Amino acid sequence: MSVDVGFTHNPPATRLLEARAVSAGYGGAVVVDGVSFHVASGETVAIVGGNGAGKTTLIRTLAGMVPCLGGSVAFAGADITGWDTPRICELGLAQVPEGRQVFAPLTVEDNLRLGGMLRRSRRDTRRNLERVYALFPRLFERREQLAGTLSGGEQQMLAIGRALMANPVMVMLDEPSLGLAPMMVEQMFTTVSELNREGISILLVEQNVAESLRLCSRGYVLENGQVALEGAGASLLADDRVRQAYLGF
Ligand SMILES: Nc1ncnc2c1ncn2[C@@H]1O[C@H](COP(=O)(O)OP(=O)(O)OP(=O)(O)O)[C@@H](O)[C@H]1O
Ligand SMILES: [Mg+2]
Repeated sequence: MSVDVGFTHNPPATRLLEARAVSAGYGGAVVVDGVSFHVASGETVAIVGGNGAGKTTLIRTLAGMVPCLGGSVAFAGADITGWDTPRICELGLAQVPEGRQVFAPLTVEDNLRLGGMLRRSRRDTRRNLERVYALFPRLFERREQLAGTLSGGEQQMLAIGRALMANPVMVMLDEPSLGLAPMMVEQMFTTVSELNREGISILLVEQNVAESLRLCSRGYVLENGQVALEGAGASLLADDRVRQAYLGF
């Protein structure tokens, strides 16, 4: 039996983000129904589920864009329940929204600069731009191009780059692989693991169940706004219920 003697043991990984029984919805309809999960510092956690399961609503609730109707959200040691989005971003929780949502009439570089306007990051704009361009050389080549004329894959790079401009501690990505060609999908998942290796904690929301469970350390399956299953990525991948419902074998 091991005895805790205080200083010599490794402390348990800190819970960077923790949702406790979070509920949210629209006009009286509850679409996120008592969801609890956490992301430890340095982890990649996946939330998977089919169309309409409530994944986007959950992310938008954590980001302060949809009101939390019940439960609580903690991030980096603060109770952020009810906080507005800019305040949450200042704490280091960034979001890559579903559908990219880049500013179409602005150039690539202006889109990136907008992502870097927070107090926490605006002094580091030049360094962060270099970092984003090193991660995505394609964006550097196209830095003067209007964002609306980028390909889908390039827009996804831009959406990720814009989030990185905020010096985030953690990034929440909503379906980064959606609508991309298979090779781009591979590249997107590789990018996500690179970001994690650089020390950024990741919450990955995906319909690409196989790839995201392979990449994450732990995952949660969301069904009808509730956590139906949770566990290590590898054990969820091997779970018959996950295989039948999401992997088709
Ligand atoms: N702005 C809104 N107003 C009303 N209902 C909404 C709104 N946004 C989403 N919903 C509803 O909430 C439910 C959950 O939607 P949500 O977008 O969170 O699901 P999702 O898991 O992200 O789905 P997908 O994989 O298709 O993106 C759906 O039934 C949807 O129609
Ligand atoms: Mg969605």
